[in-house]
Amino acid sequence: MRGEQVRNGRHKTVLVAGGAGFLGSHLCDALLAEGAEVLCLDSFLTGRRQNLRHLERDPRFTLIEADITDPLPPSLAKIHLDAVFNLACAASPPHYQADPEHTLLTCVLGTRNLLRLAESTGARFVQASTSEVYGDPEVHPQIESYWGNVNPTGPRACYDEGKRAAETLCFDYLRAGRADVRVARIFNTYGPRMRADDGRVVSNIITQALSGADITLYGDGTQTRSFCYVSDLIEGMMRLRALATPAPSAVNLGNPVELNVAELAERVLTLTGSSSTIVRRPLPVDDPRRRRPDISMARRLLGWQPRVPLEAGLKASIAWFAEEMRMAEYVRTPANDDQPGAAVLVGLAEDTPQRRSTRSAGYAPGPQRMARRGED
Ligand SMILES: NC(=O)c1ccc[n+]([C@@H]2O[C@H](COP(=O)([O-])OP(=O)(O)OC[C@H]3O[C@@H](n4cnc5c(N)ncnc54)[C@H](O)[C@@H]3O)[C@@H](O)[C@H]2O)c1
Repeated sequence: MRGEQVRNGRHKTVLVAGGAGFLGSHLCDALLAEGAEVLCLDSFLTGRRQNLRHLERDPRFTLIEADITDPLPPSLAKIHLDAVFNLACAASPPHYQADPEHTLLTCVLGTRNLLRLAESTGARFVQASTSEVYGDPEVHPQIESYWGNVNPTGPRACYDEGKRAAETLCFDYLRAGRADVRVARIFNTYGPRMRADDGRVVSNIITQALSGADITLYGDGTQTRSFCYVSDLIEGMMRLRALATPAPSAVNLGNPVELNVAELAERVLTLTGSSSTIVRRPLPVDDPRRRRPDISMARRLLGWQPRVPLEAGLKASIAWFAEEMRMAEYVRTPANDDQPGAAVLVGLAEDTPQRRSTRSAGYAPGPQRMARRGED
């Protein structure tokens, strides 16, 4: 595989926008492991330096702090880029709803800025779209030809409609021959490096179970989701990028094994041995009732399907969150100020999502945030 990342005797150079985030940091790892040079561009809106700490000394890794809604650093246009991945966008409902205008602009203006960069450098462009483009779907499982059922004015619209418009831009660039575009419609993905406070269903349930807090289930818990482990998703993204000719449409990437949210909570309770109790809360506005990808296109075009069973993925994720919570406790202890490594840990604690570019005053991370939820 390493040879795939070398062209004309030089390493391929890949830009990963959103590379400090949950998925983006795993993608940086996968690209570096294949021999590419990686430029990671991120505003640290929801991403974390801690996700990239292990790459800091890698000579093939460069970090650029920038917001994709702003004009991109001019030096980027002078680099021979082989590929641009666009994962830059807050992905969990509490985070993307904290500043809806910025979310919409990130999707539309930010994607346009990156598409123009791909156009000028000749780089292949891979867009991280989402199953949210299907909204609350009337077709099940969701196949790429389904146009979706999205509320264009509700609280999720900044993200759902933003991602739909971003897909539109991508395919306009492709049709016009301006960029060689691939679009992945990503379904719920989970695993290490998710944030404990991101309000997604997997992180909520695991952190609540581990801390012994009540597990909040929204609605009657019968709404379904399909959960893809992060390594599977990244493999799908890499294969999509490697596809020689553009796919006929966006391509679903996700795990087709469907389960309801109450079942997920039961599994986490069993795996953690937690004595947390389940409490019910009203279903949020526009929450999708069912989600399951039809992945026949990904199977056919990419020879891809998820391999990691839910139980193995949950065990790895539980271990990750347990360590995160242990570290957070450590940071909160004042005596740790004098301990070796305390600076690193304090840096970790400072990585909170509202601190840089979120412009809304209403967003405050913390335990109350962990009780909020949404599933992207
Ligand atoms: N994780 C999932 O289940 C899932 C599902 C569907 C789609 N996606 C998509 O995948 C991508 C990555 O999601 P994730 O789960 O890793 O989320 P994440 O929040 O962990 O990562 C997003 C990254 O983008 C950065 N970012 C946000 N706005 C930016 C801006 N304007 N300029 C520069 N950087 C910016 C953040 O700081 C963060 O590092 C997103 O585009 C998301 O829509 C994820």
